[in-house]
Formats: sequence, structure tokens, C-alpha cells
Amino acid sequence: MIRKIFLTVLAALLLAGCTSSDEVINIYSGRHYEAAEDLFREFTRQTGIQVNLVKADTDQLIKRLDLEGAGSPADLLITVDAGRLITAKSLDLLQAFQSELVNEVVPPSYRDTDGTWTGLTVRARVIVYHKDRVGPADLSTYEALAGPEWRGRVLVRSSQNHYNQTLMASMVAALGPEAAESWVRGLVENMARSPQGNDRDQVKALAAGTGDVAIVNTYYMGLLLNSPNAEERGVAQKTGILFPNQNDRGTHVNISGIGLTRHAPNSNNAIRLIEFMLSNTSQKILSEANCEYPVSVRVPWPEQLLEWGAFRADTLRLSELQPHLQEAMLSLTGPAGSETCFSDEVWSHILRNLLPAYVLNTIWLMLGVALLTFLMGVSTAWLVSMYRFPGRRVFEWALILPIAIPGYINGFAWAGMLDYTSPLYAWLRSNLGIDTGPYNLPRQHLLLPPPRQTRTGNP
Ligand SMILES: [Fe+2]
Repeated sequence: MIRKIFLTVLAALLLAGCTSSDEVINIYSGRHYEAAEDLFREFTRQTGIQVNLVKADTDQLIKRLDLEGAGSPADLLITVDAGRLITAKSLDLLQAFQSELVNEVVPPSYRDTDGTWTGLTVRARVIVYHKDRVGPADLSTYEALAGPEWRGRVLVRSSQNHYNQTLMASMVAALGPEAAESWVRGLVENMARSPQGNDRDQVKALAAGTGDVAIVNTYYMGLLLNSPNAEERGVAQKTGILFPNQNDRGTHVNISGIGLTRHAPNSNNAIRLIEFMLSNTSQKILSEANCEYPVSVRVPWPEQLLEWGAFRADTLRLSELQPHLQEAMLSLTGPAGSETCFSDEVWSHILRNLLPAYVLNTIWLMLGVALLTFLMGVSTAWLVSMYRFPGRRVFEWALILPIAIPGYINGFAWAGMLDYTSPLYAWLRSNLGIDTGPYNLPRQHLLLPPPRQTRTGNP
């Protein structure tokens, strides 16, 4: 009987190996928007290449890529910020790729000098002001926001945020480390409150009168202006946008971008997907869905962005921020920026997005464990006490043994053994050609919930 079950399971595994297509792409993504996922589905429809998507925080994904090393199943890394792609590249987690389309449609500022990553969409980090209390003539540069006239009036999210870290790197590049650090010091002194919430929350606080100016990415303003919620539209209408530094280096712009991983097992498919995302149709969909500037020079801007008008963008190539990112982080986490490293943002994110799902998962897990324990425990106890059969004495003791292993150790051991990068799966892949994709494994459903989207959009 046991032999029969074993053979059936083995056959099922082999069948899964035969039916699972070789044509796959595995994406690690820190960008969580519906529009991109619709495009991945369209890509699969057009090419037959299956897209496996793992969504998580970008820093966690980079850490994961690093730990997985050459065994990583990931082909592509998507981030909402150039800084994290630069970091991934400097950790040797990305590789260069050749694409005529990328060179043709993506301006040099928005792609890596060595060709390991390219932008997908572009966003400007602008100054948003309350129309009743501030006029555009009062504003000029990021630097000016550190001046004494802005004491207690500036709203900005935490310095732990990627957008602020990359903005800071651009300030270091433009002003030098000392001047950039004293700018941060001035900005912290001028804050209307301790940093909390995301960019959208800064605009809401601005409308509510907590401050007079905020540093915000353009698409948050676009999303507020086009929100189905009348209150949010009202918030956006009370505020105006100013593109800073128009008379010198230009406004700081950032990208959401995509990079080819160092050990991509499906690099040809991955490059096809990158080019698909840069096609005119995809660029139009991506930029319109999130009020971002298309990275492709061939695609016109969405209407909302045309209304805000053309502006001078900082021409320094984003990839050239690499030597300044480290200094930027030091300034932001050092004495000057320490007040901006406020943990409210993290806690409110956890409370809003993660905790409810985790509590619910835990309850389901407890119910499942209780039910299974009851069924297995009662039935085996009944068998052992009511019947005489060979090995009964052994079972009498053996059935108690699992109690000696703490549940979490058991869980971690199984998770480790059944991980995609475990020796077991590596052996199945290389010897039997069985590849279920990294996140369709039995362990995901038995022991760990599958990686989940923590919210719609990025924090
Ligand atoms: Fe964002």
C-alpha cells in the first residue's frame, strides 16, 4: 500500500515536471501595482512565457538575492527607486545585458552606465505648497527649504525612505557632503512635525494646515487629483506643485526600474520582458495608471503631467549617484538626520498592511493544527489502545516523541528542506528536470503563506 502511494506521488511529481514549461521568468519586485501585473499577464498571453512574481520590500529582496547567490531563481529585480538598483549592482547582484531598444528609447540619465538596469517610469521629487499660505514665487530650490523663513513649516517623510535617500545622494553630488549635511540639519530644524506617513500623507497634512510645504513625488499628486474619493481630490486642489532648482541643475528625478540579476537562469526571456515593458503600449499603460512620466522618449506624457508643464530635470545620470549614496545614508542616519529616522512610518505600515493578515493567518493555523492534532491523536491513540498488532509497543512510545521537538524547529527544518534553493530541489531540477517555479512549492502551502502583496501601490 505504502509503495503504491509513494509511486503515485513520484508520478505526480514527474508529471508536474513534464507539464511545467521551461519558458518562465522569475521576478522579484518591490513595485506593487496592478498595471504592471496586467502587463505581465499580457506578456504571457503573447509569448507563452510564464511570469512568476515575488512581491516584497526591496531591501528584503536584495538581501534574499544576496543569500541565494548562484542558486537564485530570480531573473529580474524591480524597484521603485534607482538607489536600490545601484545598491544591488554594487553588491554584484546584477549583470549587464544588450538591448538596442533600451539604448534607443531610454535616455542615458535613466539607465545604468554599464547596462545592468534601466528605468521603467520616471517621477520628479517636487515641492508641494498650500495655495493659501505660500505662492510659487516664495519657492525656488531644495536648498532654500533649509532657510530660517521655513521654520516649523516643512513636511517630509522619514529619512529611511528610499526616495529621500536618493534625493540626498543627488544633493551630495551637487553640493558636496558637508553642505548637503548642513542642508539636512536645516531641513530637520524646519520640520512641521516628526516624519510620519507616506508622500500622500504629507499632502493631506499640508491641506489640514499642519505645514506649508512638502517634498513629494509627482505621481502622488496625480493620484490624489484623480482619486475616486472626493475628499482626496479636495486635498489636492488646495495645493500647488513647484519644480525646484529650475535656474540651476534642475529638479531631482528618480525612476522605478528593472535590472537583470547576476545569475538569471532565464536571461533571454527576461530581456524580452524588459523590452515588452518599454514598448509604446506598455509605457502608455504604466504611465497613465500611476500618473508617472514614461521613461521611453517615444511615448507622450499623460494629460495630467502635460498640465503641470515641462521642467528642467537634473541631468546627472542616476547611475552616477553610486559614490554618493553611502555618504547620503551616513548623513541621514548620523547626528544631522537622526531626528528624521522616526519609526512611526514603519509601525503604521505594519499596523495598516501586515498585522491584520498575520493575525488572521495565525488563527487559521491554530484551527488547522487543533483539527489535525485531534484527528491524528485520537485515531492513533484509539488504534493503539483497542487493537493488538505487530509494533504496537513501539508506537505507544513513538507517538509521544513529536512532543519532544518544538513546533517552530520542526517548521523551520521542513521549510529549509523544501525550499526552492535546497539541495533536494536543486537535485530534482538538475537530475529530473522538475521545476515547479520558486513559489509554487508544497512547502509554501503547508508551512508558510505564499509571499503576499502588502498593499496596493508602494508606500
Ligand atoms: Fe511611491
